[in-house]
Amino acid sequence: MCGIIGYTGNDNSVPKLIEGLKALEYRGYDSAGVAVFSDGGITVVKAKGRISNVESKIKSEYDSLFSLCGIGHTRWATHGEPSDINSHPHGTQNLRLVHNGIIENYIQLKKELIEAGYTFESETDTEIASKLIDLNYISTGDPFLAIKLSLEKLQGSYALGILFKDFPGKIFATRKDSPLIVAVSENGNYIASDIPAVLKYTNKYYQLEQGEIAVIEKDKVTVYDIGHNIVEKKLLVADWDIDAAEKGGYDHFMIKEINEEPAAIVKTIRPRIENGLPCLGLPELSDDKLRSFKRINIVACGTAMHAGLIGRTAIERLARIPVNVDIASEFRYKNPILDKDDLVIIISQSGETADTLAALRLSKELGAYTLAIVNVAGSSIAREADSTLYTWAGPEIAVASTKAYTVQICVMYLLAIKLALCNNKITEENAKESLRVLLEQAPEAAEMALKLNDECRRISDKYKSAHDLFFIGRGIDYDIALEASLKLKEISYIHSEAYAAGELKHGTISLITDGTPVIAICTEDALYDKMISNIKEVKARGAKVVIICKKGAVGAEEVADDVFYVPELPGIYMPIPTMTVLQLIAYHTSVLLGCDVDKPRNLAKSVTVE
Ligand code: AGP
Repeated sequence: MCGIIGYTGNDNSVPKLIEGLKALEYRGYDSAGVAVFSDGGITVVKAKGRISNVESKIKSEYDSLFSLCGIGHTRWATHGEPSDINSHPHGTQNLRLVHNGIIENYIQLKKELIEAGYTFESETDTEIASKLIDLNYISTGDPFLAIKLSLEKLQGSYALGILFKDFPGKIFATRKDSPLIVAVSENGNYIASDIPAVLKYTNKYYQLEQGEIAVIEKDKVTVYDIGHNIVEKKLLVADWDIDAAEKGGYDHFMIKEINEEPAAIVKTIRPRIENGLPCLGLPELSDDKLRSFKRINIVACGTAMHAGLIGRTAIERLARIPVNVDIASEFRYKNPILDKDDLVIIISQSGETADTLAALRLSKELGAYTLAIVNVAGSSIAREADSTLYTWAGPEIAVASTKAYTVQICVMYLLAIKLALCNNKITEENAKESLRVLLEQAPEAAEMALKLNDECRRISDKYKSAHDLFFIGRGIDYDIALEASLKLKEISYIHSEAYAAGELKHGTISLITDGTPVIAICTEDALYDKMISNIKEVKARGAKVVIICKKGAVGAEEVADDVFYVPELPGIYMPIPTMTVLQLIAYHTSVLLGCDVDKPRNLAKSVTVE
């Protein structure tokens, strides 16, 4: 996902822009650039590849570039390949802009602009937006009007930072469906896609709402609605500090964030237990309201969807309420059957994933009650859902989600306990015991799993050269297998799939040949014997099997090539320590293969485009 930074103040903006872009690298990108006011005009420096390429260009072309106001961008290519020309900023002699999002009607707009005499050098939709604003600026001479008239024609998603040559020192900003904040400090003001870009300078910010147009000056921020009425904004304070957004001595953000899991569980769960019982802290979601839901739908993408699978298992087993889990990009186009008796749980670390946000909006249109489980405060999904349960995991910078997943499933457990209690499926004593597991035993088990780091690295080293690696499981272990497989493939690029173990003989066992690694997740007691049978099936066809199980698992050492004992928790909570172990195995595999652990190829931290 693209990253935007802007600064106007008393300092040289160039180093701030570069540092801000580096703090946004985790969002994934393939080119970068800056535009700054200088010598009566706007100087643009942009390049394909890493931000360091922009720094090198600045040094070689300008020796040193000084400007009190500028904007910067990291581009994650959508329209047009990664290249110098396609990098942002884009614009004309009158203006330069940076953009995060997708202009959906770019073809029609480009046709109209060509008819108006414009030519284009890049393949991007962003350049089209910049020339539309230019056209309106030439006809009105007014930046606000130029932006307002352009927004009336732009369709799609955008966060825009704009410099107008005739207005040095000012940054104009607006957004629709892509995130953008305006941060304020003693020494100048910023725009940014996300708070980590400015945490070094300030944690105070305004959240720009849909369609608002902000004018940022070094000592003043004015936000207008589309009718040019000033909007009074609430100043927000991020509870993240710069250390939280730095590596803190770890080699990678991912290993740091895995190690933060025990603390993240406590931070997320503890405030939601009162007198030993679950307390969501959402007055609008009363017990009666919770009891009114006849069906629950969980909608998310990627790892968040996998957390939803654990949530389904927990809610169905504890509260006996039917739960559907949908991939957001499928849900939004399947004409879902929803009404006021439905609860739709939307899970998202970033709170900005386009498909998930669209699924939220569709659910609300259809009358369902929407509950968001989100890690980033003030994000679009958090603000648009009927209710929001934050996962207080702190900033998750690595593209591969780890601690966010762990706290997402913990919130799902909490919700399952709450639903079970208010539907009289469990007693208050059961609920208190379950919460003691969640708040006390689960963090301990995660800590114990972290201590198995060397064993995880040994497994990684043994199987890192695999071309294909399969995960199998039954019940909640199948839910785990799906996430473990995604984690491994997205950061090590090893082809991996997860299969319901009972499905192997219906086709996929044909893929097993001599030496094929199979990681069998066997933490479900009631399904253990079935798993052993499935393990024997794949062993008979030459597979190398790693069993992930609890101590004392009968017969494991006889059938497997490797047995990995994970710390024990009561049944449905086993995903917590088991996933920590599987995340560590994926992490070490990626490191041993020399992959870019925190920023895997082709991936972005939050996919704000469809
Ligand atoms: C997680 O490892 C992946 N990078 C990805 O699947 C991610 O979970 C997905 O894009 C959803 O993101 P969200 O939680 O921010 O909505």
